[in-house]
Amino acid sequence: MMPHISGLELLEAIRATAHLKHVPVLVLTASVDRETKPEALQLGATDFLTKPVDRAELIPRVRNALQMKACHDQIREYSKQLEQTVKRRTEEIVASRLQVVHCLARAADFHDDVTGQHVARVGRYAGLIGEELGLSPNEAHLLELAAQLHDVGKIGIPDSILRKQGKLTPEEFAVVQQHCAIGKSVLDRQDDRRWTPNGELSDTQSPQTEEPSTPLLHLAARIALSHHERWDGDGYPSGVAGEDIPLEGRITAVADVFDALSCKRYYKDAFPLSHCFDLLEQGRGTQFDPVVLDAFLRRKEEIVGIQVALADSLPRTP
Ligand SMILES: [Fe+2]
Repeated sequence: MMPHISGLELLEAIRATAHLKHVPVLVLTASVDRETKPEALQLGATDFLTKPVDRAELIPRVRNALQMKACHDQIREYSKQLEQTVKRRTEEIVASRLQVVHCLARAADFHDDVTGQHVARVGRYAGLIGEELGLSPNEAHLLELAAQLHDVGKIGIPDSILRKQGKLTPEEFAVVQQHCAIGKSVLDRQDDRRWTPNGELSDTQSPQTEEPSTPLLHLAARIALSHHERWDGDGYPSGVAGEDIPLEGRITAVADVFDALSCKRYYKDAFPLSHCFDLLEQGRGTQFDPVVLDAFLRRKEEIVGIQVALADSLPRTP
């Protein structure tokens, strides 16, 4: 019978203390009433002995309690290590996914006239617009990644057309337009068609894969197909208008055009930013969704910040 605090109250306090929670507690008591033992076990006592203590019984019970604690510590340590390993592997997978997306996007860009940071900038602009339009941080991040792949279909367009200096013939422009459908085909695992080196769809289809696209690839495929559609229906490849164009396509359209206007290409200088914003404004309600354009303009300061932070060094020569 301790002064100030009873053994059971002490036990309760030990079990409520995080770093003592798993310490074995043997209750030794002189109490002989029937309630004490079940109450002590209920409160988390590891074992219960009554006084006078029998040394021959006490020592093996203490040993058992310590062995149990050692096993418990091992399991905790193992699960902690396992948790860290899973966390590290997950981070590696996320990082490699980002890198693969970026490499794939850049692979297509190397084919085109644009320089290294084009896809990263378009992705960031699209993510910001998405955020402004109320997408959750996760959705905006997914959009940022997916938008980087908007032109991946250019990988299927011949260099002679894609990097031609001077005006494209109508036939050549028709081939360039195929990059939307090729991009969709590259990214959509249910659309496993073959494309000829001239950007034409081959008659023979390879067997469809049964594995569905991840949300990222699904989104990227929709963007690849729709980022040249126009709000007024005069875009390509489908000529759909207004809200029939997926929102992510309308967002990427603004981001992509702004980047093309504001950056130097081998056939043009970068336009001053005020002129870029004026040109986008001229496309309000015709080329661009006014709601998306407003969202873009509301984040103008951050857009300009990204444009500066991710500026290209020197444009590649054709
Ligand atoms: Fe494009």
